[in-house]
Amino acid sequence: MKVTREPVTLSRATQLLNHGPVTIITSAHSGRSNVMAASWAMPLDFDPPKVVVVVDSRTLTRQLIEASGVFGLQLPSRGFAAQTLAVGSNTGAEVDKFSAFDLDTFPAQNIDVPMLAGCITWMECKVIPDDSQRHDLIIGEVVAAYADSRVYSNNRWHFGDDPDLRTCHYVAGGTFFATGDAFEVTPASGSAQ
Ligand SMILES: Cc1cc2nc3c(=O)[nH]c(=O)nc-3n(C[C@H](O)[C@H](O)[C@H](O)COP(=O)(O)O)c2cc1C
Repeated sequence: MKVTREPVTLSRATQLLNHGPVTIITSAHSGRSNVMAASWAMPLDFDPPKVVVVVDSRTLTRQLIEASGVFGLQLPSRGFAAQTLAVGSNTGAEVDKFSAFDLDTFPAQNIDVPMLAGCITWMECKVIPDDSQRHDLIIGEVVAAYADSRVYSNNRWHFGDDPDLRTCHYVAGGTFFATGDAFEVTPASGSAQ
């Protein structure tokens, strides 16, 4: 079959990786708390567990994380996509997004940051300082993690019949993908000796 390899505009090339699950970052410092959407989040290390998030230097979230050294990283499900878009389209510098979008929170276990009740997984993170940074990334050590047992337990995802409980993946312009069905394979047998 002939495959046409369509050029991708370089300034949009990161969208090819965007369907890792979209996340929501919560932050707080000195009596002020905030919440934003972040597609750019990835694992960095197993033990101790570390993650990387990219948080624009112009965001209130960045200011609060730099001041407090901690953040909450959670996964919204499809049923929470509209709220995810809302917290990614408004800045906490202008509006209290928790009350504007009716977002329930609960206290974190190990950090002083509100965690979002409407999400399905939660990670509490402490920033690992990295003075060499020239980019907007933040490295966090995960100091607590928990998940909604309807979709994750015994170290496995198990999305069931409820489409609203699937993680989702942001593309652009309000378009998301929902995570698809799991499938199993065995390793392909090769001819290498
Ligand atoms: C789905 C979605 C994903 C986003 N991903 C990121 C991201 O990875 N990094 C980032 O800096 N901004 C990202 N944004 C934009 C921020 O969420 C947006 O700038 C937000 O208004 C910042 O809020 P704050 O100023 O209250 O911190 C995303 C927006 C949306 C809607």
